[in-house]
Amino acid sequence: MARKKIVAGNWKMNTVPAEGVELAKSVVAGRGEVCECVNFIVCPPFTHLSQVVEAVKGSDIAVGAQDCATEAKGAYTGEVAAQMIAALGCKYVILGHSERRQYYGETSESLNKKMAQAYANGLTPIYCVGENLEEREAGNHFAVCKAQIEEVVFNLTEEQFANLVIAYEPVWAIGTGKTATADQAQEIHAYIREVLRSKFGAAAEECPILYGGSCKPSNAAEIFAKADVDGGLIGGAALKAEDFLAIGKGF
Ligand code: 13P
Repeated sequence: MARKKIVAGNWKMNTVPAEGVELAKSVVAGRGEVCECVNFIVCPPFTHLSQVVEAVKGSDIAVGAQDCATEAKGAYTGEVAAQMIAALGCKYVILGHSERRQYYGETSESLNKKMAQAYANGLTPIYCVGENLEEREAGNHFAVCKAQIEEVVFNLTEEQFANLVIAYEPVWAIGTGKTATADQAQEIHAYIREVLRSKFGAAAEECPILYGGSCKPSNAAEIFAKADVDGGLIGGAALKAEDFLAIGKGF
């Protein structure tokens, strides 16, 4: 069975609601130009998840959140529960993004709780892994990704694992204009799949592994052509419908 092809847009802390709705509508309007085989996901800020769900209604574009709380509900000021996200009609949630690991103290411990919340509410996590520049230069990128997977993904049941998307995002390539080469991406994606296989066996063949980090229309095709790259998690280029869709044409 061929793995799912996915192009997901992480809008990060960009767009006010009106801009987000406009962007989502433009993606819907141009979607027909891209192969139906590509699964598009847009991940706006919490504030306009609901309006974006509405804007993509009737299309095959899915909506995801960029994070969720570790707890189900209660006295956690400022947090957004997975249940709330699911209730809006979202299908996905990005967890473990390097920006959250780096700036907001996200750890494997908190991520285990967030993953549990996501699954308990029927959301598919897009679990991010990736090394920083120092770790890459020291040749530790394999070990870093392995640990990020072992400490979180290995705690999933087989059923949960069957409903998981992984994104490999080298921190040094995020927002820097510096992309991993297609060969670098393939090398580590294949390695990540091998790590997954050691725990989940043949089910690892079905798990989509996305590349993220300065992915754009001009480099998507070369990266997506690699055997273990199943799509992209797109930051900057997801803020322009035309570029986001053009990345989907990279398949
Ligand atoms: P850029 O595409 O802007 O480098 O961001 C990648 C990313 O972090 C997506 O989650």
